[in-house]
Amino acid sequence: MPNGYPALFSPFTLAGKRLKNRIVHASMTTRMGEKGRVSERQLNYYANRARGGAAMIVTEPLSMARHQHIPYKIVAYNDDELDGLKRWADAVESHDCRLLGQIQDPGRGRHEAGRNPEAVGASALPDDLSGTVPRPLTVAEIQQMIEDFAQSAARLKRCGFSGVEISAGHGHLFHQFLSPWSNARDDQYGGDVIGRTRLIAELIAAVRALCGKDFILGLKLPGNDGVPRGIDPPQAGAIAARLANHGSVDYVTFAQGSHARSLEMHVPDGYGPRAPYMPLFHMLRKAIPNVPLMALGRITDPAEADAILARGEAEFIQLGRALVADPAWPLKAEHDRAHDIRYCVSCNNCWYMGAAFHQALCCDNNPRVAKVDEVDYRPKPAASKKRVVVVGAGVAGMEAAWIAAARGHDVTVFSRSGEIGGKAKLRAQLPGGEAVSSIYDYQHAAALRAGTRFELGITADIKNILALKPDSVILATGASMIAPRWLPPDAREFVLDLRVAMQSVLHTKPRQAGTAVIYDMDMSEGTYASAEILGERFERVVIVTPRDAIAEETAMVTHQGINRRLSAKGIEIMTLSEPRWNDDFENGNLEVAQVYTRAKTVIRNVAFFAYATPRAPDIALAAPLRAAGVNVRLIGDCLSPRNVMAATSEGHAAGHAI
Ligand SMILES: Cc1cc2nc3c(=O)[nH]c(=O)nc-3n(C[C@H](O)[C@H](O)[C@H](O)COP(=O)(O)O)c2cc1C
Repeated sequence: MPNGYPALFSPFTLAGKRLKNRIVHASMTTRMGEKGRVSERQLNYYANRARGGAAMIVTEPLSMARHQHIPYKIVAYNDDELDGLKRWADAVESHDCRLLGQIQDPGRGRHEAGRNPEAVGASALPDDLSGTVPRPLTVAEIQQMIEDFAQSAARLKRCGFSGVEISAGHGHLFHQFLSPWSNARDDQYGGDVIGRTRLIAELIAAVRALCGKDFILGLKLPGNDGVPRGIDPPQAGAIAARLANHGSVDYVTFAQGSHARSLEMHVPDGYGPRAPYMPLFHMLRKAIPNVPLMALGRITDPAEADAILARGEAEFIQLGRALVADPAWPLKAEHDRAHDIRYCVSCNNCWYMGAAFHQALCCDNNPRVAKVDEVDYRPKPAASKKRVVVVGAGVAGMEAAWIAAARGHDVTVFSRSGEIGGKAKLRAQLPGGEAVSSIYDYQHAAALRAGTRFELGITADIKNILALKPDSVILATGASMIAPRWLPPDAREFVLDLRVAMQSVLHTKPRQAGTAVIYDMDMSEGTYASAEILGERFERVVIVTPRDAIAEETAMVTHQGINRRLSAKGIEIMTLSEPRWNDDFENGNLEVAQVYTRAKTVIRNVAFFAYATPRAPDIALAAPLRAAGVNVRLIGDCLSPRNVMAATSEGHAAGHAI
């Protein structure tokens, strides 16, 4: 049956291997490996993406050289994990999906705090983020490493893998050799573009020599690393032309950013355009006109992907985060069910959880990552039908509601605001948040399909809840920011919780005289997105925080973008500062003290002042409901204020628990 995306679902052959469509899973570190071994969870993760319809999957980086010892990376440089590698290949290839292992080494690149004493690199120059200075590899070590990588690639082939991808972007080791910013060698592996590309050229030749032409060999190159004196697009074109022409590799893709202030570029978020790198790909394609190109970077929608292919801008689409959010993205697109895709919202919390907390790959919009039944998940019917009341239509409540209703329960949702989405709805209206709406849009549609009733614009109280004779009540009533201690009670009328204040800012006239001040103890993204809007409405915006930096509770890639935009928009940040409240505020003057020295600054002409602070759960209904003998379950912020990921996952669990 023809589908709506003919270009996306046409086959293509790489290295003599047929790929059933043009969808490729981009490499993403899952952190699911255990002590160098393939875990069951990891097998599920990859098998699910294969079952979900991708034509090819690039794995996370493997340990493919003898110096690589990272516990969550799977050992492929010797025979210790042969069985796991075979099971991995089988779990994917058995679904007519080609599996490629990724060859990569971080070199000096490190985005965690602290130095990496074991780092090797092109030259003894510091990593721009961590300051790690690598030990330069000797020529003999480079050649040993190339030999190791090639031998490991051959081992992967013997285990049933269809190919390998060399990851030379993101500021990792190969990138460090390619870039004049990090490669100051004066031997054959440094100097001009020929010297700097030599390591990868030799690696390509070595893999080909051992694995042959029927083994897919892909190359992920830097397209624009955003580092002054690094690799700009013309340099990237020269590198690609040198490495990829003449049939040396089977495909090329380009990654942006580096281990520097530009790291954010590699996982573009919602603040910029969709598919932001297509103009760059367009340009770089001219350097490698005859090499199959894989478009990459915030491509989330099948129509978008199909159009890129139909316009001839690439031969394949690599999807990273979109396939974390929904492994059945390809199947749903193929069977005209794109409306049923759980979309990636480009929040980068998957990246954050891994990089900052060493957590396995997870997703705000997919509570079932790597579960056996993850693909096109449909809840199983409950043993007996219950009456369920959900209070709150934010993402926690809505997730609980659709799951419970899909399991056959009789579900009623109360929403005081009269709208679906709760606080996520506000986030969706602020800069960078538009895609967030797809989380609750999906939940809403699924809940309606399953017969959920909505009481919109109705404040749930004991009376109207008990009138429904519920067997179970799920409280998803969220949380409110706590007024700062220095703010006197009588001032709380006009100095507001930022989230409450923004509701009215969004609906007021475009521009106002005076200064907007945010007192920031929250450190999360919504606060700075609010500051951006305030920058459009007020003459001046000042963020005052007692901490020594802002945006600390966001991913590094996110706070790089926050700092970049706030700087560009002239939004001022006063760190280590705390308001000192006095009556002069009535005249528009806010006194601020440095937290250590108590030195005083006055911010004048203040026309807007709101606080973004830690939140307290809104649990007023819990005790009376319990007293009335009702089974009550708290989820999301109402249980403990955190983030969207906690909300969707707890909502999901609550919907199954009844
Ligand atoms: C959590 C996470 C981990 C990643 N790990 C890797 C990696 O190990 N190797 C790699 O080449 N790219 C890695 N990437 C980058 C992706 O392959 C891809 O280039 C990037 O996410 C942009 O594609 P997308 O917009 O489709 O997500 C990672 C991305 C994410 C979100």
